[in-house]
Amino acid sequence: MIKIKITKTENSKLNELDFDHIPLGKIFTDHMFICDYENGSWNHPRIVPMQTIATHPATMALHYGQAIFEGMKATLNAAGVPLLFRPSKNAARLNSSAVRMGMPELPEEIFLEGLKQLVNLDKDWIPKKKGSAMYLRPFMYADEHFIGMRAATSYKFIIICSPAGPYFSERIKLFAEKKFIRAAHGGTGEAKAAGNYAAAILPTEKAKSKGYNQVLWLDAAEHKYIEEVGTMNIFFKINNQIITPKRDGSILDGITRMSVIDLLRHKGFEVIERPISLEEIREASSNGSLKEAFGTGTAVGIAYIQEIGTDDDVIHVSDESPVAEDINHTLNKIKIQEIADPFSWMIPVA
Ligand code: COI
Repeated sequence: MIKIKITKTENSKLNELDFDHIPLGKIFTDHMFICDYENGSWNHPRIVPMQTIATHPATMALHYGQAIFEGMKATLNAAGVPLLFRPSKNAARLNSSAVRMGMPELPEEIFLEGLKQLVNLDKDWIPKKKGSAMYLRPFMYADEHFIGMRAATSYKFIIICSPAGPYFSERIKLFAEKKFIRAAHGGTGEAKAAGNYAAAILPTEKAKSKGYNQVLWLDAAEHKYIEEVGTMNIFFKINNQIITPKRDGSILDGITRMSVIDLLRHKGFEVIERPISLEEIREASSNGSLKEAFGTGTAVGIAYIQEIGTDDDVIHVSDESPVAEDINHTLNKIKIQEIADPFSWMIPVA
């Protein structure tokens, strides 16, 4: 087992947190995990008090964007044991992102041990309220100081934690974007790369200024097929089938997405992964066969979609989401071990 050096804070900020009003993404726990990559290997895994990191202006991630991340959540069961949701999946996805971005893979043991020991140390920060959790952000970036375009030779892998309440409480509205794209075939769409999110910021701000919550991304070649949403994968219920865009290299391999597919099938639904066009959704909306649509993501959980706007019209989805609500409640109960975990998804931290 790897040895993680732990330096505890002498100045906990936990008593400053109001668990009834947690501002999204702004509060960080007392500690963080760090590991350095140099000379071809990962070294010095350590947990230290939360702190800033001095940044040299030639830090390569700032110039060439070698930066990837993961999103996860820790919850508590009734006995107060912290639980992680399918953490090996995040470790594997971080590594597939790393490969695509020309970055070094991280041994799974460092990812999992770092995560478990950090969550265990900061477990008192995990909110207990329904739908709340402690958001975990593992990430890796190139920290070599060098001006020149090549793979960096030094990297940092860090995990920070941030207590979080529920993300969207109301039904959401999406704007189907026809001018800008998120990812093209052969690009970095399947990687959880920082740059994918950078490219989404302007279109997202524009969508928000029109009254939408997030962008609905269409394929890069024809602006016809639905890919994913700002921070979520997407599912549609048309008649009795649940349809989600097929992964084809340009959409994120969402861990909530794969879990929701398993859960839906376990509940007896037919789930089909295939290309689905915006036109098909428009038609299904007008002929009444579009029953519901929902987004899935770690931060968001499950978000119920009410409508999809375009430059020309508004496609009404539905005002109710019984299937999505059922899946949401089931997933939330599995995450706190309130009901059986038929897939053994939850991993206790202790
Ligand atoms: C997550 O859902 O965890 C994500 O990584 C999306 C993030 C941009 C909030």
